[in-house]
Amino acid sequence: MKFFVDTGEINEIREAAKLGILDGVTTNPSLVAKSGRKYMDLVKEICEICNGPISAEVLATDYDGIMYEAHVWAKVAPNIVVKLPLIEDGIKACVTLTGEGVKTNVTLCFSPTQALLAAKAGATFISPFVGRLDDIAFDGMQLIREIRTIYDNYKFKTEILVASVRDPIHIRDAALAGADISTIPFKVFGQLLKHPLTDIGLKRFVEDAQKIPKGTMIIERDAALGKK
Ligand code: E4P
Repeated sequence: MKFFVDTGEINEIREAAKLGILDGVTTNPSLVAKSGRKYMDLVKEICEICNGPISAEVLATDYDGIMYEAHVWAKVAPNIVVKLPLIEDGIKACVTLTGEGVKTNVTLCFSPTQALLAAKAGATFISPFVGRLDDIAFDGMQLIREIRTIYDNYKFKTEILVASVRDPIHIRDAALAGADISTIPFKVFGQLLKHPLTDIGLKRFVEDAQKIPKGTMIIERDAALGKK
């Protein structure tokens, strides 16, 4: 499963990239508004940090406006993915952009039939929002399972990008469902890594390591690192 970070904060993207396992970045107008940055400046900076797919969303909701913005975004960097709303004009734009070779991420997906339309339009990614479905007492992860089955049935190449992730359980279940990507809030990245038993176990190993008579490897390592 590929990991994208879902944020408009540059420092969070830099931190996530440090792990060496970051595959891409998603943004949306709400995240960018929260950052206080100009959208274009922010996206250009993100493209310098991460060379994986970077989703930049159109703000227009009509075909001509969407196409205009999509062409502007597409020129920013080769790894730009134009994020389109899952509405009639968004689907039409997706068909046109796919024909032009522009990568697309069709967003705000809440049903399997919406995902089917996006795949037929040639979307590179489909973004089903699991957390927002859970918020209104629908099973967000069931949507992922249904889209997986539909895409596999017809061998659609569109990648399932699980969005609106709230916690590590979403990541586990998305991986079990065979989703291609999760876009993860920065806070959840940290939660994926941490386990109290790992910390307790490592503390004990470090303490016990002091009791081992020093051998050649340890002596050479300490010398190489300038330790006594
Ligand atoms: C990602 O592309 C989405 O915009 C994002 O995951 C939405 O998450 P939210 O429901 O937490 O706003």
